[in-house]
Amino acid sequence: MGYKEVYSAWQADPEGFWMDAAKGIDWVQSPSKAYFEQGPAGEWFADAMVNTCFNAVDRHVLAGRGDQIAIMHESPITHSTKGITYKELQARVSSLAGALRMRGVEKGDRVIIYMPMIPEALEAMLACARLGAIHSVVFGGFAAHELAVRIDDCTPKAIIAASCGLEPGRVVHYKPLLDAAIEQASHKPEFCVVFQREQEVAKLVEGRDFSWHGFQYGVKPAECVPVEGNHPAYILYTSGTTGAPKGVVRPTAGHLVALNWSMKAIYNIEAGDRFWAASDVGWVVGHSYICYAPLLAGATTVVFEGKPVGTPHPGVFWRIIQNHRIKSFFTAPTALRAIRREDPNGEYIKRYKLHEMQALFLAGERADPETVKWAQEHLGVPVIDHWWQTETGWAIAGNPLGIELLPVKVGSPTKPMPGYDVQVLDEGGHPVAPGTLGAIAIKLPLPPGTLPTLWNADDRFKKSYLSHFPGYYETGDAGYIDEDGYVYIMARTDDVINVAGHRLSTGAMEEVLASHKDVAECAVIGVADELKGQLPMGFLCLTKGCTRPHAEVIKECVRLVRDQIGPVAAFKLAVVVDRLPKTRSGKILRGTMAKIADGLEYKMPATIDDPAILDEISAALTAIGYPEKAA
Ligand code: COA
Ligand code: AMP
Repeated sequence: MGYKEVYSAWQADPEGFWMDAAKGIDWVQSPSKAYFEQGPAGEWFADAMVNTCFNAVDRHVLAGRGDQIAIMHESPITHSTKGITYKELQARVSSLAGALRMRGVEKGDRVIIYMPMIPEALEAMLACARLGAIHSVVFGGFAAHELAVRIDDCTPKAIIAASCGLEPGRVVHYKPLLDAAIEQASHKPEFCVVFQREQEVAKLVEGRDFSWHGFQYGVKPAECVPVEGNHPAYILYTSGTTGAPKGVVRPTAGHLVALNWSMKAIYNIEAGDRFWAASDVGWVVGHSYICYAPLLAGATTVVFEGKPVGTPHPGVFWRIIQNHRIKSFFTAPTALRAIRREDPNGEYIKRYKLHEMQALFLAGERADPETVKWAQEHLGVPVIDHWWQTETGWAIAGNPLGIELLPVKVGSPTKPMPGYDVQVLDEGGHPVAPGTLGAIAIKLPLPPGTLPTLWNADDRFKKSYLSHFPGYYETGDAGYIDEDGYVYIMARTDDVINVAGHRLSTGAMEEVLASHKDVAECAVIGVADELKGQLPMGFLCLTKGCTRPHAEVIKECVRLVRDQIGPVAAFKLAVVVDRLPKTRSGKILRGTMAKIADGLEYKMPATIDDPAILDEISAALTAIGYPEKAA
């Protein structure tokens, strides 16, 4: 069957389609049916009993794959390569789970994981899954305040962290960040487990902190605890319009079925194959395609602690693909742009034998045609863009290599995957004609694996995703579908920006800037950037009577965002202006400001209060080199 037949088969009988896909999972109790009309947006396989860790680890050992490498750790920063077999992984994970259980972690308890790209991060995730505990991984590039916000939202019983992370030329001291976050948070975890790395041994707090190894000494390994199909597997926080991150809930059974299906259908990966997603466990790509999906499939996954360039050179991706005979490789377009900038003629690519690589997958941000064409030319394999979000956990639109490689149209992530009825709607919620730009929405129900709600926030879930277009899930992306059914993702409809494949909230940055004593009002927008896709830029209106040099205030604001949100925000650009452009009802015209910064044409908003302010914005931008500096 080709794509068309598979998609039609799902349309004709979604229930049968997903029950068939469910056969790929080992159930403790099989689901009686696929879809359950319950919860804010429906649930999948709710009456089944199953364990995620059993499916990702134990079943492969039972099937005779115990000696196969499950996780390959590649750290060009520490110059080390280390493989962990499925058998070893089973022993390590069941031991950690046993120790967590001995300290009181049980099914349903939350555990925050704050770790860099080391295999122990995956082991911590799997140990939680083994117990039915709900993990929430926090990206290492976030500062203490962001960690504190998440601690208060999901109220974890325990936090598992590492002593440090390693960025090129810089040790990221995790422990002081962890201590500061616990200090700031109202909720206090009962205990912390700290994986002490060679590069830094952190000081432990007596009675609260345990070292990873000492903690496990002499404990009884834990067996897999069966959980209900709709039990939350994890919570992953993502940026929304406001400063408060959204806790996306991932349901256990739908997650297993959808990811297991996607590994073969989308990435063409089966047991024994080698797969690498060069992302971070702190993001959804890391959850789905570094940890869970490759392990569910019985493949080898790579945990990479490094950067596409500078660790030590722009050939590091190709070296790892060659050495580990990677079959499907997944990265973000920004990583390729970084490589291309240093190696425009692909000289490093020629140094390595990439015969086993069948395709390159891109996601996380719009894959710009220039980058896609460069990769096509130099790698000689299909370059497959696919589009998804933290909320969905797997591709909404893609090119299913394991079913049929559809003709690639550069600039499009190809077609909707089975399970997704993707539509482009006008403001009134009516489907628009092919080629017409609109809001992209998905007809309910969403497929298995996607979010059933937000953690402890059903109302926010309904308001954020289901209320604007009744009967649909609103993706927050705008774009169009062409005559051939190819989807094009062009922009966000909200104030979320995408910086180096990282989804960030301008609202969160505005909250931080507004807390500076000299800032009366502010706005943050995304400006185009050649490398990172977008960069945040702040507009600051200072309090009356503030006579301090603008450069000084800006420097403090940059520091503040770094300290409060984290280095990952990459907030380095700001200008002082007298006033912000607004509508008559007081809404800041961020979209118009972004167009001016990017040098794009814009329509004077009909509701603008004072058009002259746009000239002031333009003059302030010219003074710092925009729009010339915008990509
Ligand atoms: N822990 C602590 N700090 C981190 C971090 C982490 N896990 N990840 C990034 N940072 C820091 C960086 O050190 C940098 O700090 P600096 O301001 O002191 O230089 C800052 O956050 C911005 O990081 P980054 O966006 O990675 O920019 P960069 O300039 O270091 O590297 C790229 C640029 C393009 C090479 C890099 O962004 C990249 O590899 N992007 C791919 C992203 C990706 O795979 N995303 C996954 C989504 S699918
Ligand atoms: P995240 O939740 O961090 O994965 O970010 C999801 C958002 O990133 C989407 O809503 C899009 O705005 C953007 N995005 C992800 N993949 C793509 C893609 N292939 N093309 C265009 N935008 C993308």
